[in-house]
Amino acid sequence: MTAQNKVILDVQHIGVDYFSRSGTVHAVSDVSFSVNRGEIFGLAGESGSGKSTLAFAVARLLKFPAEITGGRALFYPKPDDARSEPIDILQLNKKELRDFRWKKLSIVFQSAMNALNPVLSVQTQIIDTLRTHHPHLHRDEYYQRAVELVKMVGIAPERLKSFPHQLSGGMRQRVVIAIALALNPELIIMDEPTTALDVVVQREILSEIQNLKNTFGFSVVFITHDLSLLTEICDHLAIMYAGKIVEQSNRQTIMRNTQHPYTHGLLHSFPSLYGEKKQILGIPGHPPDLRNLPPGCAFHPRCAFAAESCRTVYPSLQPVDASAADHLTACHLYDPRLQPNGPPKSLSRQVVNDEPQTIETDILAGGQ
Ligand SMILES: Nc1ncnc2c1ncn2[C@@H]1O[C@H](COP(=O)(O)OP(=O)(O)OP(=O)(O)O)[C@@H](O)[C@H]1O
Ligand SMILES: [Mg+2]
Repeated sequence: MTAQNKVILDVQHIGVDYFSRSGTVHAVSDVSFSVNRGEIFGLAGESGSGKSTLAFAVARLLKFPAEITGGRALFYPKPDDARSEPIDILQLNKKELRDFRWKKLSIVFQSAMNALNPVLSVQTQIIDTLRTHHPHLHRDEYYQRAVELVKMVGIAPERLKSFPHQLSGGMRQRVVIAIALALNPELIIMDEPTTALDVVVQREILSEIQNLKNTFGFSVVFITHDLSLLTEICDHLAIMYAGKIVEQSNRQTIMRNTQHPYTHGLLHSFPSLYGEKKQILGIPGHPPDLRNLPPGCAFHPRCAFAAESCRTVYPSLQPVDASAADHLTACHLYDPRLQPNGPPKSLSRQVVNDEPQTIETDILAGGQ
């Protein structure tokens, strides 16, 4: 695969505001990242950091009072697609968007219960999605595809007649994933797909997502507040704080060479199922009010390393050094003009295990 056809989604300088009586919420500001074909790209950040707003902007699902203030979301066609120009998702008209969504890009929402219609059976909901895009298939063909889809996500076909309330939370989320897969999309945005589930079911579903991705070759943008989970399943990841990306790189680099104090804090805020036990430190304080951000770095009031420049000068997202162009961070601690002796030593940490993890659900059965 060449560099040109490696990328499937290239998000450039997206901004989203929410307008309210109490002021304009700058939920996403100047965010750029790209996702490669066949990879899982992780987006992490605390509650309110703008993850869902960004995902909804890319999927064109935002509603009033949200407004996209700028940017592009370029979707690159498959290498064998006759059309070679990228599509700017933000410029698609209603009809183009209808054709694009589900076929090229689908989204799995945070809460399966909200995504599913409570008064329709699983079968009807899957078939409705198929019928919208392929209106002329035979009844049996719809049914066969529905059977195939539920089997793919580990649900017995007998459950097709069930209504959402008759299924467990994990099964409902699997149904939502089946619907997202119905039209063989090339990219799936998953917004906290497992957050509401207990840890065993969460692991099972993550394992399922990895297997399906490996079988069908789609790409995933996986959103969660749990950075340690992303470091287990993602190829590349970006960390958001107060509507901006503060650090971005491949998984190994984020783990081996964590730069931003916020990333550092997030990595130490969640327990991991793998590696040695570690102390959960958390991050002191609260995320800022997005209507009224502090001057300089938005993280400075919570940062143990904040210097004068952090309180006054906004740090832009920059390559950490010339030899690591794909590792970006927005932090003054790595600016040699401001920190001639380098960043504080206490920011470096030893990584115990940064090998890629395949989520094995039986790890839970065996205990640790
Ligand atoms: N309809 C709205 N009107 C005004 N502000 C909103 C609206 N929806 C979201 N926001 C604000 O936008 C910011 C980003 O919200 P968003 O839901 O994107 O965050 P998130 O990172 O997905 O959080 P979570 O982890 O809780 O899902 C928050 O400050 C939120 O309060
Ligand atoms: Mg969200």
